[in-house]
Amino acid sequence: MTRSRLAALAAVLASLASPGHAQEAQPESTTALAERASVTAEDFMVATAHPLATKAGYDVLAAGGSAADAAVAVQMMLGLVEPQSSGLGGGTFLLYWNAALGELTSFDGRETAPAIADPGYWLGPDGAAVEFWDAVVGGRSVGVPGTPKLMEEIHARYGRLPWADLLAPAIDTAEAGFEISQRMADAIVEGQEQRLDAFPAAKAYFFDDGGSPKAEGSPLRNPDYARTLRLLAAQGTAPFYTGSIARDIVAAVRTETNPGELTLADFADYKVKERAPVCLDYRTYEVCGMGPPSSGALTVGQILGILSHWDLGRPGANTDIDHLFIEASKLAFADRGLYMADSDFVKMPAGLLDPAYLESRAALIDPGAAMGSAAPGEPPWDETRLYAPSADQPEFGTSHFVIVDRYGDMVSATTTIETGFGSRVMVDGFLLNNELTDFSFEPEADGKPIANRVEAGKRPRSSMAPTIVLEHGEPRLLIGSPGGSRIIEYVAEALIGILDLGLDPQEAIDRPHVVNRNSDTTEVEEGPGAEATIARLAAVGQTAKAANLNSGLHAILIGDGTLTGGADKRREGLAMGD
Ligand code: DON
Repeated sequence: MTRSRLAALAAVLASLASPGHAQEAQPESTTALAERASVTAEDFMVATAHPLATKAGYDVLAAGGSAADAAVAVQMMLGLVEPQSSGLGGGTFLLYWNAALGELTSFDGRETAPAIADPGYWLGPDGAAVEFWDAVVGGRSVGVPGTPKLMEEIHARYGRLPWADLLAPAIDTAEAGFEISQRMADAIVEGQEQRLDAFPAAKAYFFDDGGSPKAEGSPLRNPDYARTLRLLAAQGTAPFYTGSIARDIVAAVRTETNPGELTLADFADYKVKERAPVCLDYRTYEVCGMGPPSSGALTVGQILGILSHWDLGRPGANTDIDHLFIEASKLAFADRGLYMADSDFVKMPAGLLDPAYLESRAALIDPGAAMGSAAPGEPPWDETRLYAPSADQPEFGTSHFVIVDRYGDMVSATTTIETGFGSRVMVDGFLLNNELTDFSFEPEADGKPIANRVEAGKRPRSSMAPTIVLEHGEPRLLIGSPGGSRIIEYVAEALIGILDLGLDPQEAIDRPHVVNRNSDTTEVEEGPGAEATIARLAAVGQTAKAANLNSGLHAILIGDGTLTGGADKRREGLAMGD
């Protein structure tokens, strides 16, 4: 990093860390988009959604910490400064590249449904599925959080620095205070529309005494969070899963509206699962990500596998890449809706990424005409089709971070409490997730079960797609994003930008998004080029409209001796390295 860039960053960070210097040096201007250039470094790098989280990770890496150490420091800080998106009360999927072993693995810290849950969990007294927002708010949507245990396990496996040291920056900042960012302030206003201030602890923390949302630049301290982290620093996560914090959560989810029925046994039973990453051979690369219960890697993999039948770098005069992407996306989302769920509970076809199957799906695409919406296919499978397709559900919170350390270890992690501010239930300084609304509300359709229906102890299907791309067995790219089920398309588009179009991470992240999750209307990111894109797509029969498509992509490209990082201009994040 150049000296001038370091100095500029130092100014931003100093202003953020000390309440009282409110407006002049926010990471984002008051417009929604803050233009950024790629950041380069040689030895290590971290990119997250908030400058203070990036700084916490950077300091750990500079002190000789591993990627796992930095991930712990980043997550603990994100839970404080971006509390609407992720934290101790949520779940995380994390890919880890272990340089010494030359091994890529993945960790599933997804929330679980309580033991009392059954497929009718989201049906009201009249037998109909409840409304989405009516389900979100209150304790019933809360699954057992996995993020604390995941952090402890990766630290135990790959950590170099003491656990307590990694929690210290977040403890200090929680006690000293930080400034509410523009994004967080906007999120509080939006959260109020969905009853954030109806829950006493959240109301006391995010609203002023007169009941108004705390504004951008206001100082915020979180002594409860500091106390929680001190407990975890001293005792590990035992208090969270078998001690006082578990008891506090079990009590807090018994809210007046939508009481939850999590038990201490649900907490004691929670396990982080190490899983084999799901990988697709794509051109000269292996694109690897998170398998079930996430639909992320399989759906990103299907999109890329279908598109591998075209040379996207040189598509030909009459071939519109956006059109091909939309059609591939429709086909992949059709399979996702039918087949994908927690494979520890439901049978899934083994052949979802089978090259011959994806070739047969690609053959359904007409480069000159839109197909409307797609039907699911018949991937190679030794079962007859068991399930009915499920409808998609809205999703809004979440954060993605990427880390490369000086030893060559790497992390790509997506972390969430689901919607912005999760269930709204706040306990011991952090918010509890509403991840159980990621299950299908309808348990069955056409007399067949829906794969992603609620079941006791099951993990809701996710779209999170933390990704590590390998080339000749070595990592080349780390990437991921928030955005609910749009995550899949944000990640697939950025992969195409970098791997096929040769863009650097920042350029690929900045490209306007085009999203279609198998509907008859495509979303085109609003902005200067949107109308022209919509008109171009109309020529091949695609109906499209402009939309606010708010990704939070963070990426690091690994070159020969150079790390190049990018942070999404649509959020307030930062890449930083040395
Ligand atoms: O697991 C999932 O796919 C969702 N709960 C993630 C939600 C999300 O990304 C919202 N982002 N803005």
